[in-house]
This record gives sequence, structure tokens and C-alpha cells, in this order.
Amino acid sequence: MIQTLDISVTRTSQSKISQVDFQDIQFGKIYSDHIFIADYDGQQWSDLRIEPFANLTMSPATSVLHYGQSIFEGLKAYKNEAGEALIFRPDRNAARFNKSAVRMCMPEIPEDIFLGGMRELIKLDKDWIPDRIGTSLYIRPFMIATDEYIGVRPSQTYRFMIFTGPVGAYYSKPVRVKVEKKFVRAAEGGTGFAKTAGNYAGSLYPAQLAAQQGYDQLMWTDAKTNEYIEEAGTMNLMLVIDDTLLTPPTSGTILDGITRDSILTLAKDWGMKIEVRKVSVSEIVQAIEQNRLQEAFGAGTAATVAHIRTIANEGIDYELPAIEDREFSNKVLKALDDIKYGRTEDTHGWVMKV
Ligand code: COI
Repeated sequence: MIQTLDISVTRTSQSKISQVDFQDIQFGKIYSDHIFIADYDGQQWSDLRIEPFANLTMSPATSVLHYGQSIFEGLKAYKNEAGEALIFRPDRNAARFNKSAVRMCMPEIPEDIFLGGMRELIKLDKDWIPDRIGTSLYIRPFMIATDEYIGVRPSQTYRFMIFTGPVGAYYSKPVRVKVEKKFVRAAEGGTGFAKTAGNYAGSLYPAQLAAQQGYDQLMWTDAKTNEYIEEAGTMNLMLVIDDTLLTPPTSGTILDGITRDSILTLAKDWGMKIEVRKVSVSEIVQAIEQNRLQEAFGAGTAATVAHIRTIANEGIDYELPAIEDREFSNKVLKALDDIKYGRTEDTHGWVMKV
């Protein structure tokens, strides 16, 4: 239950909204007028406020810049036909944020500040939620270590912030992914399950090498054997083989995706056969060669469902079935969109109306 929070609000005197071309929104380039901020002084969260979105000022010695105590979340708000703002499963993001916080030795944030701050921010910047098909308002909660100290130790002070921005599609077309066996994203005991900046930083170089070879993303494999698939780029990986939905279990190395969980829930509702288990690269290759692999896609907040059209393994490009023939991923994408945009009954209680 969200209680009323004491949030001081300073409105911008000059909204930027009229400068935005809502007919052509790319992902992650435009930010709405306001930002929610809360500070942690080593004891408690306080000074909850909404301010005009502006640059941060910080000492070059600020701890986050050196040792990377930085975590984030990503979620989206949608506009329904009545013009109301709907946020998809924000309670799950709040819970995951705190799991990331614990792993990165950062303070947890009470759910009422996470959700209440977000609700007030979205209320204020509601007009920034775009309403064209396929668009939404991306919400980025994050926390950084703010001690001005360059000894290595957990920071004592932190800042939590939420900003938003209208977004369109993350991928403009189905993706080509390469199975990665040299570099790893995460190892057991590491930080793979946490949504922390360093996981993304470490993925950039291998992804860049793959991009130079014409691939959009990597299919990460496990650090021990490089034989079992983990994630696809920044998303969870899902496959349909022999009419069965297959995905690796979340673990210390795989992010507990909210889109992944929503897809598994809908598949279960529909009576689909599901297997959550380790999936080897050779099993995938064999299924492709025997025409048993029907679908492959990444599941994440940014893209929802990113169809995979090519999987490359050891120098061979395997072209996958045509996107229009992919019954499950197309159906689940539509079902999720119908819930998110409020076009269908929300039987799971996933949508928070602002
Ligand atoms: C997602 O797929 O939702 C992500 O995590 C990508 C995001 C970091 C932009």
C-alpha cells in the first residue's frame, strides 16, 4: 500500500514538451520535464523532492565514478483510451531494485518511496506519455553512491532518482545474435542477477566485436562450460522447440526478468507446455537443423519481445523461421500490449493506474 509521502515539488517554468516530435520518437534520447530525487545520509532516506530535470553536479571524487556502486531499473507507463496512465508491474521492479541494492552493498529503498515517488512524477509529467501504437514512457529509477572519497569501501551516502522519457521501439527489426563463447557476461557468485552498471559496461566490448561482424546482440553462455545459454543481449532468452516454451532458469547469473515472468505466466494460462531448465547450444543447433525450433526471442522491458531471426554459432549463421509464422511470440506480444495499454481485463493485477 502506498502511503502519502512528503514530497516537495518544484515545477519547471519552461516545459520542453512542445519541442518534441512525438511522431518520431527513438529510444532513450528525450527526457521529460521532471526528476524525482531522494537522499540517503547513512541512516535514512529523506529530502524527497521533484525538481526540473537538470544536470547533476558532483565532485570528481564521487565514489560511483570510481567503484561503480550504481544500480537501475527500467519499466514503462502507457496511456489507455481514457487517457489514464498505467504502469506495468512496478512492484516487481521495486523488489528487484532492492535485490540489486543488497548485492552492491547499497541501502534498500522502501517500496513506498520507490512507487510513491514514481506515481507523483508520472502524474506531473503525464502529458509526456505518448499515445501512438508501440510507444510508451520509459521510467528509469536508479541509485548512485555519493560519498566524496576514493578509498575503496561502500559509500555511506547515496542518491536515488527517477526520470522518464517517451520511447518508441528498441529494435526496429528482428535481431541477429551470435553465440558468445570467449567472453562471459556473468559467473556464479558474481553480480549477473543484479541490474548494476558494471554488467552492462562489461558487455559492450564483446557486443562491439559482434556488431563489427554484423550481429545485433550476443547470446551469452555460462562461464564454466560455455555450453549453456544464459541471456540474449540485455534480455532473457526464450525459445519454442517442439511446441514447448523453453527458457533457462534465473540464477546468480541471469536477471529475473519481469517480461520473462509475465510471458511464462500467460503461457501457463494458455496451457502451453513450458520447460524452465538449462538449454545447451548444441540442443538449439540440433533443433534448428531438424526444423524443430519454431521461435527464438529476447524478452525484456525495452523491447518486450525481440524476435531473433538469425543465430550464429561457430561461424555458421542459422536462419530461423519467418517472423509471421511465429504463433506464440506474436500472440504473447499482443496479449501483453493489450494488458499494458488497458485494452483487456488485467486478471493478474499487473497494472498500476496512476
Ligand atoms: C531491457 O531489455 O529491458 C533492458 O534492460 C535494456 C535497457 C538496459 C535499455
